[in-house]
Amino acid sequence: MALVKRKGITISRQIMDDQLLHPEATGALTGLLSDLVVAGKIISAEVNMAGLADILGQSGRTNIQGESVQKLDVFANQTIKRRMEQCGHICVMASEEEEDPIPALPGYEGNYTIAFDPLDGSTNIDVNVSVGTIFSIHRRTSANGQGVVTDLLQPGSKQVAAGYIIYGSSTMMVYTTGSGVHGFTLDPSVGEFFLSHPNMRIPEASLYYSVNEAYSPHWFDGIRDFINHLKTEDKGRKPYSARYIGSLVSDFHRNLVKGGIFLYPRDKKSGKAEGKLRLLYEAAPLAMVVEQAGGRAITDDGRRILDIEPRDLHQRVPLIIGSKQDVDMAEQFLRGE
Ligand code: AHG
Ligand code: MN
Ligand code: MN
Repeated sequence: MALVKRKGITISRQIMDDQLLHPEATGALTGLLSDLVVAGKIISAEVNMAGLADILGQSGRTNIQGESVQKLDVFANQTIKRRMEQCGHICVMASEEEEDPIPALPGYEGNYTIAFDPLDGSTNIDVNVSVGTIFSIHRRTSANGQGVVTDLLQPGSKQVAAGYIIYGSSTMMVYTTGSGVHGFTLDPSVGEFFLSHPNMRIPEASLYYSVNEAYSPHWFDGIRDFINHLKTEDKGRKPYSARYIGSLVSDFHRNLVKGGIFLYPRDKKSGKAEGKLRLLYEAAPLAMVVEQAGGRAITDDGRRILDIEPRDLHQRVPLIIGSKQDVDMAEQFLRGE
């Protein structure tokens, strides 16, 4: 019997439907994602208050925790940590904001790990630009008890779920559990995420590139030739336009919806021998999302991001990610073809 397409699907309904695709599932991943959704709602509320921080005193209000206002990236980090360490489904986690792995509370250890960038693009908060939380979930490799660092050092291809929450003109959660990508928009009036972007597909090709062009004097030839090529007309296609927000989640999200290619390559001078972005918290989760949406993610020497075996928690990786044909084209230039 064909299912009638329903309207108004909530994120919890979708997470449970995803679980039904895996008869062996115990409901643990469902529970974990549901707790993450709650963390996302709390961070969203706080981000929305950010511009009011200086006038809260005047209106006699405090933030939602009733505490004095914290730096938002610290707040986001603590919110996710607190929810995850006692959700019962995580054995260990890693945060871009913390040096060492963070084990689950004793007695609350579960079968998964989570790595997260609590607030990506946080330098943009003061100027009202979208920021986001990025997450990556793996099944543990150790047997039981509190997890260890090797549970976290797994390639992106082994992720069981990944995605992000973007705090923008509206708050959206975009995630995949390996059966396509779904996007949900938070309706703040009822505090619920509703399915707004089912089965997201990134356009095959685009006319947009996102890169910090200020570093171009230090680029290697392949990247420079590629970007120059995009700027010129070729076989009847128009020159590309640039779109760079400087907040990875926002640049990525725009490209996912509209089509585009994002690059953060290594360069010769800036001390960024591996680029800037982090494999576990940024590149790998977005690579899973983009591949599930029909796009590609590679390094600037042509390796598939999802195949990289991590060496350490905070390792950086050059990232080229976006519409399939655009990444294919970049790859040709990087090979010198
Ligand atoms: P974060 O705020 O988590 O430290 O990440 C910052 C990142 C990312 O969001 C963005 O793509 C990149 O920094 C921009 O770097 P440049 O200013 O070097 O272009
Ligand atoms: Mn980041
Ligand atoms: Mn960050």
